[in-house]
This record gives sequence, structure tokens and C-alpha cells, in this order.
Amino acid sequence: MSAMLTVENIVKVYRAHGSDVRAVDGVSFEVEAGTTFGLVGESGSGKSTVARCALRLIEPTSGSSSIDGEPIGGLRNQTLRRLRASTGMVFQNPVAALNPRLTIEQSIGEPLRTHTPLRGRALAVRTRELLDEVGLAQAHAERLPHQLSGGQCQRVGIARALATRPKLLVLDEPTSALDVSVQAQVLNLLQELRREYSLSYLLISHDLDVVRYMSDAAGVMRKGSLVEVGPASEVLVSPQHEYTQRLLAAMPETPGAVPVPPPPRIRSEEARGGPPGTPIEASSITPSLNENRIPS
Ligand SMILES: Nc1ncnc2c1ncn2[C@@H]1O[C@H](COP(=O)(O)OP(=O)(O)OP(=O)(O)O)[C@@H](O)[C@H]1O
Ligand SMILES: [Mg+2]
Repeated sequence: MSAMLTVENIVKVYRAHGSDVRAVDGVSFEVEAGTTFGLVGESGSGKSTVARCALRLIEPTSGSSSIDGEPIGGLRNQTLRRLRASTGMVFQNPVAALNPRLTIEQSIGEPLRTHTPLRGRALAVRTRELLDEVGLAQAHAERLPHQLSGGQCQRVGIARALATRPKLLVLDEPTSALDVSVQAQVLNLLQELRREYSLSYLLISHDLDVVRYMSDAAGVMRKGSLVEVGPASEVLVSPQHEYTQRLLAAMPETPGAVPVPPPPRIRSEEARGGPPGTPIEASSITPSLNENRIPS
């Protein structure tokens, strides 16, 4: 496996009101191609900052990152634009992330106009294709953001992030502003898209169920530093560090926010042979689309 994103010794010092805030203090990790790296940590620990520095949406104080083996430090104009087009970002608040005056079609067309030569009919075709990919109806194209639900707006956000066919997406709390009932649908969509397009994800979430469901590897941030990093099955299930253990214990788990994992075989057999009225029926159980089952 190769690394889709390599982050090396990133430092970010913000200067606010005359004093320095060391928001990120020497963070290094890799996101393997085709996998999801989950980043957790308390509020203010520097997760969003490190993700933005990694994609060079903000300039790090020092350190470097590369996407698919290509260093992005010191790049200018054209090359940086091309490399940026190979990444996408999905934000926490889907409604606020959209321009309220643009129709959904115009919103999705925007990154295409910026990063691709598509115009006119070809642009419209690709926009419609993207609507379809994220599970929205063609009728949504003419609507404005306020005429859509939060979940539908986040699908538009995902379509915008996917517009340039990126290889890497940064998902910064992609479902935390959504109703619990639609969180699982959006997570399912992200998992399907990841498989279909061999995407790599850097996922930031404060919901333990969400990171466990989505991540192959995980890192734990504390006050600007990465205190623990490794396979998700270790870091998020049986962490070595006392800090991680305390953090995980304090992290919320939202019932219903992640897709239902398939029940163990024994349960469906019980259901079949169980007394009349047994609520679980094999046919009514939603099969999970994800190999990374939530550990029960
Ligand atoms: N533009 C800025 N100017 C000054 N300080 C900032 C700026 N952006 C973030 N910070 C500070 O840097 C630190 C890290 O912020 P960051 O947003 O990266 O945290 P986070 O882990 O993403 O938190 P959350 O979980 O609340 O989103 C915080 O102390 C924050 O106040
Ligand atoms: Mg943040």
C-alpha cells in the first residue's frame, strides 16, 4: 500500500491579539491509499488546523505534506491548483457551506468551472451525473439550499467535493450537524463512494461510533500533538495511552447514527426459531455495506 496523504512534522502557530497560539505542534501521520484515517481529540486540540495545513488551505508555520507522493509545499499557482483539485473538503455545516443565492446546479458547477475546462452542455451533464452519484434527484438541480433538508445539503457538499474526481477527501465533522436519522444514510453514501472511486478519507469526528464505523487507522490529538496513532481496531477499541482511554470514555456515541451492522449469525437463527412475534426477522435486517463492523 502507498500513502495518499503524508503529513510531516506540521507546526501551526496562530498569532492572535499579540500572543501566539501553538495550535499544531509537530504532527506527522499517513493516510494509506483507499483507506480512512480518523482523527479524534477534544475541541481545540488542532484537528481542523492540521487538516487545513495538510491540504495547504492555510499555510503551516513549518512542516510539509504530500499528496499521492507529490510534495505540496512551495508549489505555486498552476501546480498547486492541480493538486488542490485532486483533493476535496466536506464541512460540518452543510447549509452554511453553500451560497444561499446559487441553485444546487450552480453550486455543483462552481468547482467544475474553476478546475476543469467543462462548459455549457458538458458542464450540465457532469453536474447531473454528480447529483445522481450522491443520491439526489434531478429535480433538486433548480432548487436553492434553503429548499433542501440538512442531509440533502450535505449531499450537495459531497457532490461539490467530488466534482473534480479527487483521490482524497477531508471530512471535517461531516455528519455532526445532521439529524441522527440521516447521519447513517450520509455515512453509508460516503462508504459507497469511497469504494466505488477508491477514495482515501481523512475523517475528523467527535462521535466515537462514527470514527469506529468509518476508520481503518486513527490518531488521537491533544493540545496540538498526536498522542497515539495506529490501526483503528487498536487505538479506538483498546488504546494504550491513558489519555486516549479517558477521551474515548468521554466521547459521545449516538445511537442510530451509524448504519446497523449485520447481526451475528446466531441472532438470525434465534429469530427464525423464536416464538411468534420475535421482533427480529432475517429479511428485515439491513445488511451493512461496510467491512469495518462496529465492535460490539
Ligand atoms: N484563525 C485562528 N486564529 C487564531 N487561533 C486559532 C485560529 N483557528 C484556530 N485557532 C486556535 O487553534 C486551536 C486549534 O483549533 P482547531 O480549530 O484546529 O481545533 P479542533 O480540534 O478542530 O476543534 P473543534 O473540535 O472544536 O473543531 C484552538 O485553540 C483555536 O482557538
Ligand atoms: Mg475543528
